[in-house]
Amino acid sequence: MSTYKGFAHYYDRLMEDVDYDMWVDYLEKIFDTNDTPITTVLEIACGTGNVSNRLAKRGYTVYAADRSEDMLALAQDKALEMGARVRYLHQDMRDIRLDAPVDCIICVCDGMNYILDDDDMEKVCKGVYNNLNAGGLFAFDMNSHYKISEIIGSNTFGHSGEEISYVWENYYDSGTRICEYYLTFFEKVDANLYRKFEETHRQKAYLTGEMEKLLKKNKLKIIGVYGAFTFESPGEGCERVQYVVKRDSI
Ligand SMILES: C[S@@+](CC[C@H](N)C(=O)[O-])C[C@H]1O[C@@H](n2cnc3c(N)ncnc32)[C@H](O)[C@@H]1O
Repeated sequence: MSTYKGFAHYYDRLMEDVDYDMWVDYLEKIFDTNDTPITTVLEIACGTGNVSNRLAKRGYTVYAADRSEDMLALAQDKALEMGARVRYLHQDMRDIRLDAPVDCIICVCDGMNYILDDDDMEKVCKGVYNNLNAGGLFAFDMNSHYKISEIIGSNTFGHSGEEISYVWENYYDSGTRICEYYLTFFEKVDANLYRKFEETHRQKAYLTGEMEKLLKKNKLKIIGVYGAFTFESPGEGCERVQYVVKRDSI
């Protein structure tokens, strides 16, 4: 079953409480920590372009990639509407291909948790290394092990809205640390009729030590692990962990 297809068209509505301006402010603060200026950025798993379009409007040269054509189409429409110049690419993050390397690669709002095993994570790391300038940054956030195992895992959530309602059932396997999300949507067609559609998503809960090993194996070095939107170590109840990683200068 494909992901971010029917859901793509409601993604922004269901994310309306997320403050993307603040998220981009935080990313820019991370960029500012680098000793060489960041002017070119690739966003992997860019979704509907909420971050990429904003970065382009702030003057960066932006490439943005996702594997969902529906998410990309929405991102492109929004870019056109707001006059943001972003080069959108239909690419899986396990196979990143750019014509020229960039200063920074970002992955925002837990896209990296969709990578479910070490082999695939290594493909992502290799792609990052090969498409990043020496001294460049890789900044990504992940849903924490705590959030996936304790908050999302094996719980059911629901939302009842005027146009769209959903039930979100989750099953967490502590052996694989993979959580399966069964999403059932009910989309209003007319006053008395709702269309039902379903998607299954899978995310893996990673531990910092294991990310460090996978990155290091691919010549990428963690220079900061923070509770998201801060520059402090993630505390026990941290739900989103921000990684800042550097490609060596040589
Ligand atoms: C939670 S959304 C985040 C979207 C966006 N970054 C944001 O901040 O709103 C996750 C995105 O990851 C994308 N994705 C998941 N696995 C992927 C993969 N292997 N390669 C590229 N994109 C992927 C999905 O299509 C989806 O757009």
